[in-house]
Amino acid sequence: MKNIVILISGRGSNMEAIIRALHAEAWPARIAAVISNTAKAAGLATAKDAGIVTQVVAQGEYGDRLSYDAALLEAIDRYSPDLLVLAGFMRILTAEFVRHYEGRIINIHPSLLPSFTGLNTHERAIEAGVRLHGATVHFVTPELDAGPIIAQAVVPVLPDDTEAALAARVLEQEHRLYPRVVRRFVEGKIRLQDGRVVFDDTINTPGEYVLTGDFS
Ligand code: GRF
Repeated sequence: MKNIVILISGRGSNMEAIIRALHAEAWPARIAAVISNTAKAAGLATAKDAGIVTQVVAQGEYGDRLSYDAALLEAIDRYSPDLLVLAGFMRILTAEFVRHYEGRIINIHPSLLPSFTGLNTHERAIEAGVRLHGATVHFVTPELDAGPIIAQAVVPVLPDDTEAALAARVLEQEHRLYPRVVRRFVEGKIRLQDGRVVFDDTINTPGEYVLTGDFS
């Protein structure tokens, strides 16, 4: 049984999608804890309602990034994580923290990386006039939103799209994509090797890691 620890900062809809899939599909894993950097994260209540241990490591209590990340790491490691899932965790992590979890820390980013790293990705995609947009699940490395890509989901950008409409279209795909990747990781079918993503031999359909939204 693998231990998953999920880090959130907000509404936690990706976390919820993972919880739901784990329960529905009986993965060889359990969610050992959901940890937030703020007590205000709405997702904490969702996790509690699902019977999952929650914890807040409040950022205000620590003077600098290094001491915060050291405290966070200590809290996480009490749950012996095999996989650390960032699900809307709104902090830039120190290289020390990231290196400690090398090969077992993943993130979902709301764009087709390497395009649109950082914030306001949907607004920037509309402004740039791209026709395709989406979400990326990647291993986390010290450089922001630049780790090896595991899987991507693609949606169209429509001519009259608003930021909210595009965000909702992408989020729907995030909720399909992220649980699928987490499941494959805990099944031992995905790993990081020499800075590259390696898939288990039994997976030879690229479609497993490329999802498309509705283009009709
Ligand atoms: C998602 O769009 C995710 O891609 C990004 O932050 C958002 C989190 O949403 N990293 P939620 O908290 O999972 O609902």
